[in-house]
Amino acid sequence: MADLIVKDLKLRLGDNEILKGVSVSVTPGQVVALLGPSGSGKTTLLRAVAGLEQPYAGTIGIGSNVFYDADRKIDLPAEKRGLGLVFQSYALWPHRTVFDNVGYGLKLRNKPAAEIKTRVEKTLAQIGLGHLAERFPHQLSGGQQQRVAIARALVYEPPVILLDEPLSNLDAKLREEARAWLRTLIVTLGLSAIHVTHDQVEAMAIADKIVLLNAGTIAQEGPPTALYNDPQSQFTAEFMGSNNRLDGTLVDANGAHATLEVFGERITGLNRTKAAPGSKVVGISRLERVHCSSNPGPNRLKMELKAPMYLGERWELVFTRENLTVRAYANAPLEPGEHYVEFPQDALWVF
Ligand SMILES: Nc1ncnc2c1ncn2[C@@H]1O[C@H](COP(=O)(O)OP(=O)(O)OP(=O)(O)O)[C@@H](O)[C@H]1O
Ligand SMILES: [Mg+2]
Repeated sequence: MADLIVKDLKLRLGDNEILKGVSVSVTPGQVVALLGPSGSGKTTLLRAVAGLEQPYAGTIGIGSNVFYDADRKIDLPAEKRGLGLVFQSYALWPHRTVFDNVGYGLKLRNKPAAEIKTRVEKTLAQIGLGHLAERFPHQLSGGQQQRVAIARALVYEPPVILLDEPLSNLDAKLREEARAWLRTLIVTLGLSAIHVTHDQVEAMAIADKIVLLNAGTIAQEGPPTALYNDPQSQFTAEFMGSNNRLDGTLVDANGAHATLEVFGERITGLNRTKAAPGSKVVGISRLERVHCSSNPGPNRLKMELKAPMYLGERWELVFTRENLTVRAYANAPLEPGEHYVEFPQDALWVF
């Protein structure tokens, strides 16, 4: 099977340019997470791929199967694209059993009853709900309802399934379990998927590739490790992970490193800026990379520790100095008061 390819897609809703030339590819067996803040265009892009929104430029297709081509005036309706769709609201039919919910689409397509039975039973078995086939949605937990919604998309054996925040109705703990379950299901069945989420941890956990959207354009795309460890812009650096932000003045930027001045101290990090010395710049550092010391030293700032917070598996330390707040993790609490916070050079990006 060929890749799903979206090329230079542009889409307007009312007077708003929502997608400003977005390209995404999904290879067979790959899970792509569409990640981005609220309003960045994730749902719109997914709906355009499904055939539920109409772009005005670009192309969408799988190999020779062209779904949309603005120049050639091709625009296949959703049912002819054959993609499986799962919405955030599970949208199950309340008066149909699990079996009928999953089989209804096949019935609409006039599949013979025997084939429907085989396919629905197979799909329910795959998602571990075979024993609940005769129940109604209100007799299921939220997590089980979510699985039925996924089964309904899988029963068509679509080349790609499109999931729009499928886990966001679940509470935090269930969501983590469902994430692992969904990833295993997708990998075991060899499915391709586009998974929309605004949760960066969920995106990293579930996807082979992340496409990070910012206001209708792609900020960065790549494997989760690349987005997390090598952000190319301040937007990506700040969107991924939990971060500290140091505002300062650029002293020097040459080659790989850049130095900024904060409270009269020089702090050196990785150079990601094109600014001239003297300009205002921003240093971004992940919480887990910042650490604390009792002595002054290179790349350290003197700061005041407020009350440590116990998080169970570790402590979170909050340091302040004037209007700067820095958070860090530690295995044990420290005494409140004066400490030195270090920003390791290879874990601070200067934008
Ligand atoms: N019918 C519409 N007319 C005009 N603008 C719209 C319409 N529907 C959505 N928008 C705008 O399109 C932008 C993208 O919306 P979209 O739903 O794709 O965002 P999203 O990334 O899925 O956000 P969220 O994480 O909140 O679900 C938003 O700014 C939204 O206000
Ligand atoms: Mg959305």
